[in-house]
Amino acid sequence: MTEVRRATVEDAAVLGRLLWDFNTEFDSETDDADVLAARFARILALPGILAVLAEEDGEAVGFALVSLRPAIWFDGPVSQLEELYVVPQLRDRGIGTQVLDLCRALARGLGSPEMHIGVDEVDADTRRFYERHGFRNIEEGTDYRMLYYVGPTA
Ligand SMILES: CC(C)(COP(=O)(O)OP(=O)(O)OC[C@H]1O[C@@H](n2cnc3c(N)ncnc32)[C@H](O)[C@@H]1OP(=O)(O)O)[C@@H](O)C(=O)NCCC(=O)NCCS
Repeated sequence: MTEVRRATVEDAAVLGRLLWDFNTEFDSETDDADVLAARFARILALPGILAVLAEEDGEAVGFALVSLRPAIWFDGPVSQLEELYVVPQLRDRGIGTQVLDLCRALARGLGSPEMHIGVDEVDADTRRFYERHGFRNIEEGTDYRMLYYVGPTA
């Protein structure tokens, strides 16, 4: 039985380890788990951040991180799904859906009407997962994809 709950600052070490597992699985450059844990501890204390943790028999098996920022398009904040991860051996059992659903409900509870997610074009499985949950990369009334650009601040 998977329990999904909002994480607290006390979960920072577990979240740091899961994010390290995520980065390592996909060969992404990563800071050490303890550095990530310290960062989780710092940002989870901020008002515009929420994390969700999935646990099975007390063991952490998945997590997500969401940030909320002021938006100009509507009164509430816009939320950004920053990370979503389920341990490989427990995928395709609905845990990712549970984590995403709680993220969306918590964000909605904080007044955010819209969630944004950056996905690599080649990640077909992940794109299908989000699309199944109603996310789109083509805005209504258009026939072209939205793209996400990243660059340094200066
Ligand atoms: C993306 C990710 C978080 C999804 O987590 P998950 O636990 O596998 O998600 P779910 O089980 O809810 O859904 C996955 C699939 O299983 C199916 N599924 C859902 N509930 C199920 C259940 N109870 N039993 C069997 N299958 C189920 C869904 O239909 C879904 O199918 P789809 O891929 O065709 O959409 C997970 O695959 C992951 O960690 N991937 C690597 C990291 C990653 O890519 N993260 C996203 C970064 S943007």
